[in-house]
Amino acid sequence: MTYQHIDVEPLTPTIGATVSGVDLTEPLDDAVMDEIRQAWMQHLVLFFRDQPMSSEQHLAFGRRFGELHIHPAAPYAEGNPELMVIHTDKDSFRNNGERWHSDVSADLEPPMASILHIHHVPPSGGDTCWSNMYAAYEALSPAMQELLEPLTAVHASDYSGQYGEHKPQRESPRAVHPVVRTHPVTGKKALFVNEVFTKRINELAYDESRALLGFLADHVKNVNFQCRFQWQDHSVALWDNRCTQHMAIWDYYPESRSGIRVTIKGDKPF
Ligand code: SIN
Repeated sequence: MTYQHIDVEPLTPTIGATVSGVDLTEPLDDAVMDEIRQAWMQHLVLFFRDQPMSSEQHLAFGRRFGELHIHPAAPYAEGNPELMVIHTDKDSFRNNGERWHSDVSADLEPPMASILHIHHVPPSGGDTCWSNMYAAYEALSPAMQELLEPLTAVHASDYSGQYGEHKPQRESPRAVHPVVRTHPVTGKKALFVNEVFTKRINELAYDESRALLGFLADHVKNVNFQCRFQWQDHSVALWDNRCTQHMAIWDYYPESRSGIRVTIKGDKPF
């Protein structure tokens, strides 16, 4: 694909691309936004380097994609629950997003996108990996695809104790979603179960459900579906939660890493 306003460098043929020629600290023209959207639909995760955005600029960029989502329980910055804090240091007992997931998939309408701005990186490490859920679905045998197609699964979250003293914004969500969803923009099928939120496949016996979810959790970790991004201060990642999963690597203890995530509301999966 050729672009007139932005430069797009794929990170892998399967997922991820770095976009340059864009300044996210400035309001973006519609023509630039159209190309960002096209590149995003093609590569699923876009990376932007050297973007010292303010919170206002970050929120404004997020709003170009839709209404903003509020995390059920995570701490937020500047008194604004739309600014989810991502922070890990020597006193942390866990790292946000350290297991494969798509964001808050337990919501009835899970967020469609997330935009993470990392302000501070450790001297080394702290990379994030993303996995392409179209590719994960397409790599399954036709017989397995046929088995999964009509199935639904319960997604539930339990944030108790995860965010220390911070009082949750709302009750922990719970929802039933199709195991294979259709992306509302591309029309492509994507696997939509993850090891953090997906608890049970409704149509199967308990042991069958457990075995199948275990198999699928391993399957999405196949490196052939993945990219791995090395952050620098003021890198930004924009990802599509409808067709990707991600995990944040905590290999930098006792160093710290911090940023802010702005998340965009999505639709009910079908
Ligand atoms: C997350 O949003 O799951 C965290 C991702 C990261 O910190 O890289």
